[in-house]
Amino acid sequence: MQVYVWLLVPTALLLPPGAWSGEIIGGRVTKPHSRPYMAFLKRQTSRGPMICGGFLVGKDFVLTAAHCAEGTTTVILGAHNVHQREKTQQKISVQRKFPHPRYNETSFENDLMLLQLAKPVKPSEEVGTIPLPQAGHVVEPGSVCSVAGWGKISRYATTNVLHEVELEVMEDGTCQKNWKMRRHYKPSVMMCAGDPEKKKSSFSGDSGGPLVCDGTAQGIVSFGKGDGSPPRVFTRVSAYIPWIRKTMRKPRD
Ligand SMILES: *[C@@H]1O[C@H](CO)[C@@H](O)[C@H](O)[C@H]1NC(C)=O
Repeated sequence: MQVYVWLLVPTALLLPPGAWSGEIIGGRVTKPHSRPYMAFLKRQTSRGPMICGGFLVGKDFVLTAAHCAEGTTTVILGAHNVHQREKTQQKISVQRKFPHPRYNETSFENDLMLLQLAKPVKPSEEVGTIPLPQAGHVVEPGSVCSVAGWGKISRYATTNVLHEVELEVMEDGTCQKNWKMRRHYKPSVMMCAGDPEKKKSSFSGDSGGPLVCDGTAQGIVSFGKGDGSPPRVFTRVSAYIPWIRKTMRKPRD
């Protein structure tokens, strides 16, 4: 009987502390299905179940972080509560993973990965793509963007429903002067967001989820301090447009 109960425990509760680098703190529950591009990545890894976020950029492509590559991944689209079987959900396995060829797991440089789905999604009100930025576009510091995810909502609380929080894009210096990030923050390929003064919106979205500015996926949740406090570092999507387009054009196996 105990084994049976154990299996019913939501995946998130089984995660060891630090299993993800992401959590939404100081945010709120999203209006259900208001972000139809959001993808929930359910991963079975050698270290146990883990989750990541991602976002739909083509009918059979999800963009996420390269540090989410480990394990066997199932993608759930059209979800609000990932622990319920909602009619809107489309659960699709991953046919092929394309981590960026120059992803560096020490520096988290080039932390992005395309997942080719085993079949295209069925477009619906609840499942659709988000536009990518123009190559080289730079989001001005002070812009208010948002990030969403199914990660923890505090150090100890998990959630099943999608949460979101607004984040201000910061000057590169805000991330560069953080000693834990100095080695790793590279302005040409990374973005800095989350005002360190605003404890309330301190956050980190689920790894791999999008930083959305003006309806466009400008960033990918990548890394930050272990306690989840702002600022956080995002992969700068506009620096990778040629690689993303080229990879999505590759013929299917
Ligand atoms: C990865 O990043 C680390 C830390 O910045 C650096 O020492 C190392 O040379 C990089 N590896 C590659 C293959 O570029």
